Amino acid sequence: MKKNHLLISLRPTGLVQLAFALLLILSQNIALAEKQNCSAVSDKTCTTAHALKKGINLGNMLDAPWEGAVRGLKVEPEYFDLIAENFNTVRIPIKWSNHASTSKLAIIDETFFQRVEMIVDKFLARDMYVIINVHHYNQLVMKNLPPGEVSVDEEVVKLRLLNMWQQISLRFKNKSDKLIYEVLNEPNGKLNNTEWHSLMNDAVTIIRSNEPERILMVGPSDYNSIFSLAKFTPPKDRNIIISIHDYTPFTFTHQGASWTFAKDMKNISCCSETQTEEMKRAFITAANWNKSTGYPLHLGEFGANEKADMQSRVNYTKFARKLAENDSIGWTYWEFGSDFGAYDPKKKEWKQPLFEALTHD
Ligand code: GLC
Repeated sequence: MKKNHLLISLRPTGLVQLAFALLLILSQNIALAEKQNCSAVSDKTCTTAHALKKGINLGNMLDAPWEGAVRGLKVEPEYFDLIAENFNTVRIPIKWSNHASTSKLAIIDETFFQRVEMIVDKFLARDMYVIINVHHYNQLVMKNLPPGEVSVDEEVVKLRLLNMWQQISLRFKNKSDKLIYEVLNEPNGKLNNTEWHSLMNDAVTIIRSNEPERILMVGPSDYNSIFSLAKFTPPKDRNIIISIHDYTPFTFTHQGASWTFAKDMKNISCCSETQTEEMKRAFITAANWNKSTGYPLHLGEFGANEKADMQSRVNYTKFARKLAENDSIGWTYWEFGSDFGAYDPKKKEWKQPLFEALTHD
């Protein structure tokens, strides 16, 4: 019987089927080869890194000096469905440092903690991946603090970061494993590369004492720059994803951005061949680093501000997205409803061309 069956399936139509099956297997292998190298991490972390796919940052809300301080932006109840229906991942930047006591204990204000927890729970309930971080803890990185910043004794600045993570981790340790902690947004300035490595490892140790398995994100110095991956040594831990940020071509993405050297630039469009070559170089550097280390990458921020013309923002967004996706790198666009935003909170609608550039394949 078995032999007969084999003979039947090897008739010409059977051979065609076999050829198709082989092609399918081959193409799957090719697809697998395009996945990131995950040799340094657990299978679960590898799967998660790839499942983060499309995402968006809830920027300038909980990371503002206080919620509402930037353009009156707050996390509104309708945002949960709006984001969950269109993205796999939400990154929630949080300025815990302004909502914690000024002593080394950095006791987090209970009302603020409840607010963050409610928002995290709403997204988790919608089965999203949720990344929370410590954002704009400016005293760690700046000598002169911007207005609106709670200032503390220099000696307790780093300890406070550790104690914040201790509290966050104790409080959230029973949450879904789709919740991811990112130790610190964009280390830079006075927090040099050596200091950042030691602070990062201390924070990871503290979180691990409560949560041995939670997936954590950390990233290189110089604002999580791809070009600083070369001097970045991830913690020795199998549940780590590396967060990178990329705003090349910077004079395009940050034209008119008051906090950068590009503040007086304007009318810069995207994307010329020089610009796309620059963008490609960054992603080649990132992919090579992943290949040689085995730590998966996530593009935590990329985006272009509203001073640029809409068509150029669309061109940029599509191109950057594709570069990340070609390397199987998940991304979270910077950001939802503020100066880089894909959504207009006043009109209560997506900025359609940008929204399509982000969500349509
Ligand atoms: C960083 C900053 C944020 C800024 C963005 C784009 O995430 O924290 O405030 O808007 O980069 O420059």
